[in-house]
Amino acid sequence: MSQASTTAVAPASSLPFEHWLASRGQRAEQALEHLLPPAAAHPARLHEAMRYAVLGGGKRVRPLLVYAAGEAGGAPAAALDRAACAVELVHAYSLVHDDLPCMDDDVLRRGRPTVHVRYGEALAMLVGDALQSLAFEVLAAAPAHGTSASATAAMVAELARAAGSTGMAGGQAIDLASVGAALGREALEDMHRRKTGALLRASVRLGGLCACGDGAAPTEACARRMQALDRYADAVGLAFQVVDDILDVEGDAATLGKTAGKDAQRNKPTYVSALGLDAARRLAGQLREQAHAAIAPLGEAARSLAGLADLIVLRKS
Ligand code: IPE
Ligand code: IPE
Ligand code: MG
Ligand code: MG
Ligand code: MG
Repeated sequence: MSQASTTAVAPASSLPFEHWLASRGQRAEQALEHLLPPAAAHPARLHEAMRYAVLGGGKRVRPLLVYAAGEAGGAPAAALDRAACAVELVHAYSLVHDDLPCMDDDVLRRGRPTVHVRYGEALAMLVGDALQSLAFEVLAAAPAHGTSASATAAMVAELARAAGSTGMAGGQAIDLASVGAALGREALEDMHRRKTGALLRASVRLGGLCACGDGAAPTEACARRMQALDRYADAVGLAFQVVDDILDVEGDAATLGKTAGKDAQRNKPTYVSALGLDAARRLAGQLREQAHAAIAPLGEAARSLAGLADLIVLRKS
């Protein structure tokens, strides 16, 4: 495993949002490329499939949130690379498993055949397992990249909780158990906050924690920033899945890079099935406003976070 680039990045405040987006997206791409085992390394088919699952597609929203939240507090760029890759690796693993025939049974992801279609189900399962392990290996090495050992321990615990039985995996279990059910608003929100919101929230918090120095004794400024970031993360975390539900109805496979109309086809309870399209759109808009309000106290330093809230709600894929 080679190391991610540690070159300095231009400060977020000096870049127009579109340039920032391209720059940090590219940075995440390069870091992932470096941190994934080479395709030829033994066992080669597993490594090839891991790279297939992670590289060459995806909006990289979670890494972008890590960079934006971290840069708002002046975090070291190399530590942010580690956190950004860790959350994206967990996300990529969750997608590989989400697409399996025993879950959503999807054949298209990021515009290409899903991992199990390309490599078989057994290897797809192992790809998910190995990506999750790699995520924690990558994150655990953060102290060598500018974060204290105690802040790193806090980040590892945070990511583990977000991915685990009360976070993403738990939300996925609720999702599977809810097929055909008409969930009430509260239960639907709970499911979405776990299956998708938890990892987005962890992305924001990991970025924030990278900027908190010694995690054991956070400064008052750090605690205040984390409070604002928490409120922001709550809003964008839920908004993301509300919009995903909307796009499943409104989008097409060419734009989404995944099969459209799957939720209705598989009888999944979603914000669209529960509230209808218009109310779901209105909710996404309200969550966008909540996200903006949450980071207002951070001022100019939160410009990229504001742009990402817009992107999450207004995206078409
Ligand atoms: C899709 O996530 C799965 C959900 C959690 C809703 P993304 O829309 O972020 O997928 P990629 O990473 O861009 O492919
Ligand atoms: C997936 O939700 C959430 C996770 C992968 C944890 P969906 O099942 O709605 O995601 P897509 O629509 O397949 O990307
Ligand atoms: Mg699913
Ligand atoms: Mg799915
Ligand atoms: Mg979906």
